[in-house]
Amino acid sequence: ARIVCVVAARPNLMKMAPILRALAGSDYPLESVLVHTGQHYDADMDGEFFTALEMRAPDVQLQVGSGSHAVQTALVMQRFEPVLDASAPAAVLVVGDVNSTLACALTAAKKNIPVLHVEAGLRSYDRAMPEEINRILTDQLSTLLFTSEASGMSNLQREGIPAARIHFVGNVMIDTLQRELARATPVLDVLRQVHLAGFLQPDSRYALLTLHRPSNVDDPRRLRLLMETIVRLSDEVPVLFPLHPRTRAMLQQYELGHLLDVPRVACLPPQSYRAMLGLMKSASLVLTDSGGVQEETTALGVPCLTLRDSTERPVTVTEGSNAIAGRDPAVILALSRDILRYGGKAGRIPACWDGHAAERIAGRIGHWLAAAQEAS
Ligand code: UD1
Repeated sequence: ARIVCVVAARPNLMKMAPILRALAGSDYPLESVLVHTGQHYDADMDGEFFTALEMRAPDVQLQVGSGSHAVQTALVMQRFEPVLDASAPAAVLVVGDVNSTLACALTAAKKNIPVLHVEAGLRSYDRAMPEEINRILTDQLSTLLFTSEASGMSNLQREGIPAARIHFVGNVMIDTLQRELARATPVLDVLRQVHLAGFLQPDSRYALLTLHRPSNVDDPRRLRLLMETIVRLSDEVPVLFPLHPRTRAMLQQYELGHLLDVPRVACLPPQSYRAMLGLMKSASLVLTDSGGVQEETTALGVPCLTLRDSTERPVTVTEGSNAIAGRDPAVILALSRDILRYGGKAGRIPACWDGHAAERIAGRIGHWLAAAQEAS
């Protein structure tokens, strides 16, 4: 049976790599068609990840590029429909919560093609987040829903999704982390590659920062406050800050980049997967608004402060090493100092974040297709 698998943005790639391997190794004969919508397109946001994660090149490229939510979503739908007509798949598999996830799910569902959603059921209960809208709607359109943590099941059942369609499989992002961890780039090598070799002494402590949510970086007042907070944090610990293209653009647009011209803050270009693993693994503290980084730091047992008011990944707080810090500078600084002084919580690794989530997904898909065949 043919499964159309969709990737679009950087975080989709580490989720899809193990799924493609598991589909290829499945007992039930499964053939994947890999479609890249082109939502992300820069080499350092996209191309290099295919090589590092040993993913095959996409079979189809939709090349939609950037745009407003409506334009991007509409263009993906328009270009994805003929792909479905040509390939007549048994199902479409989507991951995560980006605009392309919803666009492809909606296109497939309207053609009565079953949608399989990996990372289903996560909810921040904040509809101002574009991803929350994408998550809710994609789940409503899906036939099989694969969840990464226990909260996914209860959220979906509350929204009326029958339990028989929900499968708790664990976290595919952690499949990739476990596979690649031994090959993480040491932090001093990362710094050398960007000509910042002297920024840290061997064994010196540092904090790692990532920011890209529109709620943090698109609002000039909030962005300025966050940058001022980081500069104050750098009095206590050096800060490494790989810049997402959106964040770089906003710092430029609002003329805030100069705030970071201080000796103990280093801005880096977007980093490769292995470099990010190396940066996270050895950090004393990670500050982030990313969903994936909350999960990865939990898997690594590295203290994480989430610079948002909510998380759709509560297990990273209840069991993992994450805490919700919000956006108040005083709170962020106090929590950071606490972690630097006392080490923060290591937490424990959530159930089924064990490196085998993708195999479980392939198993359930095979089972479902075999049952459907028998019934027809
Ligand atoms: C998208 C996802 C977000 C995810 C993030 C990971 C949505 C609504 N958002 O956010 O959930 O956490 O990806 O990175 O789907 N740009 C480039 N080069 C690229 C891609 C983007 O320069 O390769 C710049 C463009 O100026 C673009 C902006 O970044 O307008 C935003 O890109 P977009 O894909 O719309 O959203 P992200 O902020 O990356």
